[in-house]
Amino acid sequence: MRVLVTGAAGFIGSTTAEVLLDEGHEVVALDDLSTGHRENVPVRARFVEGRCGDAPLVASLGAFDACLHFAGRIEPAISMATPELFFDVNVAQSLALVRTLVEAGCPKLVFSSSAAVYGTQDAMPITEDRPIHPESPYGESKAQVETALRWLVARGRLRAASLRYFNAAGASPAHPERHDPEIHLIPLALDAAAGVRDGLDLYGEDYPTRDGTCVRDYVHVLDLARAHVRAIDALDEHPEVVVNLGTGVGHTNREVLEAVRRVTGVDFAVRAAPRRPGDPAEAVASNARAREILGWTIAHTSLEGIVADAWAARGDAH
Ligand SMILES: NC(=O)c1ccc[n+]([C@@H]2O[C@H](COP(=O)([O-])OP(=O)(O)OC[C@H]3O[C@@H](n4cnc5c(N)ncnc54)[C@H](O)[C@@H]3O)[C@@H](O)[C@H]2O)c1
Repeated sequence: MRVLVTGAAGFIGSTTAEVLLDEGHEVVALDDLSTGHRENVPVRARFVEGRCGDAPLVASLGAFDACLHFAGRIEPAISMATPELFFDVNVAQSLALVRTLVEAGCPKLVFSSSAAVYGTQDAMPITEDRPIHPESPYGESKAQVETALRWLVARGRLRAASLRYFNAAGASPAHPERHDPEIHLIPLALDAAAGVRDGLDLYGEDYPTRDGTCVRDYVHVLDLARAHVRAIDALDEHPEVVVNLGTGVGHTNREVLEAVRRVTGVDFAVRAAPRRPGDPAEAVASNARAREILGWTIAHTSLEGIVADAWAARGDAH
């Protein structure tokens, strides 16, 4: 297959591009390098620097069998301060991309959606049929693209999969997680262990969870990457796919910090900080639908293994 991968200089896009190349597919890697890193892009891919919403540029790249659309802004807190940025990059540019792809006859799109579409949910694990109510412009931007895709599928314009990732984590050796600003707990804790960050703020210790800290579902980026390849195939049978990608197992923030201490052998400072608005106590995926529709299996089930892979992929790992 000839596949367009947007956001291919980012964490999940670069890892998935590598998996596609390993399976013998041709990859065109599109990224505007607004937050990504050029060196993340696999050398075997053709790299094109530009915005996914640049219709003439995307049209000039030729025909594709599928597009994996990772490009976008990912920080819910920044989206609270500048919603317009998120509706531009994540919604307007995504829709411009989709329109260009449809006009060029690209039959399949796999979209990086997010658990953020669910907002706070009472019952765990979260199934895909739960009513969604995003609590940030970031989550809303993902929900709006999902809605647009649903209509395009219904009108026979495209076959589309929306993959609602929970917390992407771990790493493959050549693709460490490097966001700027970093907002994810495992890389923040690894920064603290490596001494490049002065300790870590723990937001909220009074949640109704087993140790008072938030519970999240950490899924290895290589498992996510394989799910994308599965999703391209599943679209042959199903014109529309909406699935959670998570392990179904939750870990508290404290458990994650303990795993980081065990893996790195470093005891770093942790400061108690107030809860952040919009942080649900718990977010754990039901992955029954992904297993059934994609035939997805999870290879990386150990939190410590996920942390160890993230640590090993960093240049400063001891
Ligand atoms: N990391 C997670 O835990 C997580 C969870 C749920 C959903 N997601 C979604 O997965 C996708 C990838 O996440 P990530 O962690 O790899 O993020 P990332 O920031 O590492 O990668 C995003 C990439 O998109 C590029 N980009 C941004 N705007 C662009 C544009 N207009 N045109 C072209 N390129 C552009 C950036 O330069 C960057 O390389 C995002 O859409 C994100 O919302 C991530």
